[in-house]
Amino acid sequence: MSNSWQIKVPGSTANLGPGFDSIGLGLSLYLTMEVTLQNEWEFVHIGDNVPSDTTVETHLIYKTAQQVAKQYNASLRPCKVEMKSELPLARGLGSSAAAIVAGIELANILGELNLTTQDKLNISSQIEGHPDNASASVLGGLTISSMDEQGVVDTLHIQEMDAAFVVFIPNVELKTSDSRGVLPSQLERGYAVRASANANMLAASLIAKDYVRIGRYMEADLFHEPFRAELIPNYTEIHEAAKLAGAYGTALSGAGPTLISIIPLSIKEQFIEAMQKQFPTHQVVLTTGASAGIQVTTYSNSK
Ligand code: HSE
Repeated sequence: MSNSWQIKVPGSTANLGPGFDSIGLGLSLYLTMEVTLQNEWEFVHIGDNVPSDTTVETHLIYKTAQQVAKQYNASLRPCKVEMKSELPLARGLGSSAAAIVAGIELANILGELNLTTQDKLNISSQIEGHPDNASASVLGGLTISSMDEQGVVDTLHIQEMDAAFVVFIPNVELKTSDSRGVLPSQLERGYAVRASANANMLAASLIAKDYVRIGRYMEADLFHEPFRAELIPNYTEIHEAAKLAGAYGTALSGAGPTLISIIPLSIKEQFIEAMQKQFPTHQVVLTTGASAGIQVTTYSNSK
């Protein structure tokens, strides 16, 4: 029996515009945990992008792991979890979904639960409340998902995207609950039909890998961006500048405040340089679709 593992989970961007609460894309930015069995639970946080509080009982990853263990009537052997992350908190890059997915995998390993990928999709999406970020963290690549009233997730998964994604991360946090708080509870039927048509066109364009149309429909959201735009630093300026610099399109990453542009791979260097110069208070980061979802490495006992 092994006593140490690495669990690596990609962060993600959600919505890509009108794919609200449904479409996700795993990004090449990761949450990584080194897990070692020991006599009591301990969390160690390394570097930036991790909360300062390492209290075990209130830790999202611990709480998630214990919740899953309880669901399966299992008990978890205690361990030390050393965690580092490339996902800044509360910026719309799926840091909490990645932590939830990591917590589920931790329970899977320590409780020997033999969870299937479908189990992981369902549990993570139920905890999150929607399947966009969670599915992308479980599978990597692009995910188009729906969750039914019983919490069962159906996901269409496309691994490869021949484009790069550039995130504009401002130096402010925005809680998802605050960003969801500005959304209307109801939409008028004609408006909802237009919003839905744009979402359909986005999904179809993603499957067809029609990047010009992907960009156009990423910018055609009616479900959430019109209501959230005023909360987002440089929302209009970044859309305009990115388009001028060659982006196919730009959208809010999840609930924001990060914005994400999809760009041709051939322009990535000059695009990043130009955007970083124009938006010096944002961190402008080049990413690609994550080539895998949850990755577990098992070490031999001697580590
Ligand atoms: N789809 C979610 C939203 C992502 O836009 O609120 C953040 O949880």
